[in-house]
Amino acid sequence: MTNIAVFASGTGSNAVNLVKTFNSGSRIHVALCLVDRENIPVIEKMRELGVETIYFPRSVWKENPQAILEVLRQHDIKLIALAGFLSFIQEDIINAYNGRILNIHPSLLPAYGGKGMHGGNVHKAVIEAGESKSGATVHIVTNDIDAGPIVVQREVSVLPEDTPESLEAKVHQVEYQIFPEAVIKTVATLTPPPAPKSVDDAWAEVLGVPNNVPPVPQNFTGSVPPTGSTSPTGLTNPTGLTNPTSPISPAIPADPMPPTYLVWSVIMTILCCTIPGIVAIIYSAKVSSKYYQGDFEGSRRASQNAEIWIIISFVLGVLSSTLYLPLTLAGLF
Ligand code: GAR
Repeated sequence: MTNIAVFASGTGSNAVNLVKTFNSGSRIHVALCLVDRENIPVIEKMRELGVETIYFPRSVWKENPQAILEVLRQHDIKLIALAGFLSFIQEDIINAYNGRILNIHPSLLPAYGGKGMHGGNVHKAVIEAGESKSGATVHIVTNDIDAGPIVVQREVSVLPEDTPESLEAKVHQVEYQIFPEAVIKTVATLTPPPAPKSVDDAWAEVLGVPNNVPPVPQNFTGSVPPTGSTSPTGLTNPTGLTNPTSPISPAIPADPMPPTYLVWSVIMTILCCTIPGIVAIIYSAKVSSKYYQGDFEGSRRASQNAEIWIIISFVLGVLSSTLYLPLTLAGLF
């Protein structure tokens, strides 16, 4: 959730529009409204919408910007929207919210901007100058009045029969579109996209356990630390195994496989599978030859011996595999 504040000095239709746009289920929330005048319509409108509103007299805006900043901090405000706000914004606030204060102005800036150009004055000047188009601009607030970088600007046409009031109504309609657009655009630049999950994180999430493996530094070029030890970069290798294809350890070279690994695999295959197989073949030949010679008792004994030897050789195979892991971890292989 990104908390924003609106500053207003009058009617507050733009402030109301921002609250209605964002405060029902969006990731942006108008959490605060600051005003510089008492008894202005926007105060009651914000109260009805449930937005906390605080009045600071002009003297505070001018001489004590730290008081304003403190309130903004308390409400965790990330962006400020000036919605028809007529007091001067102190340099301290502009610096604290560098690039994060937006102002809406009722003309196609840089035309009809600057000191004294606000609200009805702008529309009157546009009509008097016989312009065929006007519009609204949302820009970033800097120390120069109405001169910061433009975020969104949109035109309206000025007809010969237009009055300052009818032009103001047209421009307001455009403002209600472009102010939320500009807020969304600016907030998007403040919130970096979430970092892609590492394979470890994804697995830990699937298994429902915390991922305690420290991330591999981007510039890591060393080799995997020995079994059970911890490297100077904080990497621990409990098994001695490496995974050169893992996306989190692209720079870790695979150690050559020790020859004992191969010897042990062959021994285990022989013990677990080959010997029980050979024993089974020899004894089944013995069992059937004795049977066909009429030595039924010898055939039965051979069958019993076959069972015993097959089980013994299989158990030996399993035991050797079981022994392999502790012997490897003890560093004997
Ligand atoms: C708006 O038209 C806004 O562009 C203008 O004041 C009006 C406030 O209306 N702002 C300026 O002139 C700033 N220089 P609202 O109170 O109904 O939102």
